[in-house]
Amino acid sequence: MTTVPHIKTPLPGPKAAELIARDRARVSTSYTRDYPFVMAKGEGAVVHDVDGNVFLDCAAGIAVTGTGHAHPEVIKAIVGQAQKYLHMSGTDFYYEPQVQLAEEMARIVPVGGGSGDVRSFFSNSGTEANEAALKLARYATKRFNLIAFLGSFHGRTLGSLALTSSKFVQRRGFGPMMPGVFHTPYANCYRCPVGARPESCAAECLDYLEDQVLIHLVSPDEVAAVIVEPIQGEGGYVVPPVEFHTRLRELTARHGILLIADEVQSGMGRTGRMFACEHFGLDADVVTVAKGIASGLPLGVTSSRAELMTWPPGAHASTFGGNPVSCASALATIELLKTGLVRNAEVVGEYLFGRLRALMDKHAIIGEVRGKGLMIGVELVRDRTTKERATTERDRVVQEMFTRGVLLLGAGRNAVRFAPPLVLTRDQADIAVTVFDQALAAVTGRT
Ligand SMILES: Cc1ncc(COP(=O)(O)O)c(C=O)c1O
Repeated sequence: MTTVPHIKTPLPGPKAAELIARDRARVSTSYTRDYPFVMAKGEGAVVHDVDGNVFLDCAAGIAVTGTGHAHPEVIKAIVGQAQKYLHMSGTDFYYEPQVQLAEEMARIVPVGGGSGDVRSFFSNSGTEANEAALKLARYATKRFNLIAFLGSFHGRTLGSLALTSSKFVQRRGFGPMMPGVFHTPYANCYRCPVGARPESCAAECLDYLEDQVLIHLVSPDEVAAVIVEPIQGEGGYVVPPVEFHTRLRELTARHGILLIADEVQSGMGRTGRMFACEHFGLDADVVTVAKGIASGLPLGVTSSRAELMTWPPGAHASTFGGNPVSCASALATIELLKTGLVRNAEVVGEYLFGRLRALMDKHAIIGEVRGKGLMIGVELVRDRTTKERATTERDRVVQEMFTRGVLLLGAGRNAVRFAPPLVLTRDQADIAVTVFDQALAAVTGRT
């Protein structure tokens, strides 16, 4: 059995280098690619590159492959469906896997207070799931304006992009943005945007929304929806206090504003609950899901209270949206999540969290460890008092992890995220921590 990780060539190896050169010549330059990993195959939380190096995957294809790579039950569902038919467009025709998935979503999404009175729209990605949510909110409320949070990421198509405010590179050069969008501070208590103290914070950042945005900029009765990530993903794996979501829910309900929970990154078991909303007792009007729902096949879902989704035929649709193979994969994925993987994310997540926290005693560069389940962010700082961001150090830590055989991604300006497949074992969590310890030591010069 190969040990994990197992790095036998300097990285990138010859086959990886050759493929990367071809990629650089012909593929869009807009992809981020922080390090030269070239996938050959994967199993569970382990991936092999084209040169035979073996890595532990703590990135899961950006928080996607919750069931791990090539889970046999998922493959079986995909092959079984592919042998029957690949496509029939849910826009014009009916098929069982899509209806079954809509029924399953009605049972599990935190919408409608658990009544199950939920309808779902199917697309191919997170950004499309949010586009559908925005259009639905405008259509259902007959209101125009939208509110999103600073640091949020909701996608890169032009509607969702107007909401996204994670990094300016995502917006730069693409303006003007869709009108009618206002941004307000998110409850990042490690760096409170309105100067409150974390110990006494009662989600004062929502005062800014209520007393500034909704007074000076936009009338609440003209706001269709507020869109919020229950835990901010690309922004740095930021976990707000429960009061933030409680107050936001109360405020939106009071003004007849729809609350859209973007669970694209935090959903489908990643946080040790099926949806991150459950940690906050949050019942949304609309929930959007993608990434982890189909174990890696493209699928976006927008689920809302049934009475909101009454737009007429033709109002919104997508040729490939809710593809039967993706839906079959999603059904197998949800079954695996329900029968063990959500629980594993909770248990192994708690273990990993504890071990990462313990590293704070050794590494002053760790400013904060935060997260739920297997959605864990570690913020790196140059000084714990000033909280100066260790941005270049963060990038180097990610590189050091790669050269030692662990795939990790950054999040926000100076955090790294641990978002492994939800099949991660305790032993694999130990490997991740050991390698992280070494990578931090290499970057900070400590041995
Ligand atoms: C919270 C959130 N919403 C939406 C998206 C966009 O998803 P996609 O890349 O599938 O369009 C992402 C992607 O990272 C995300 O994290």
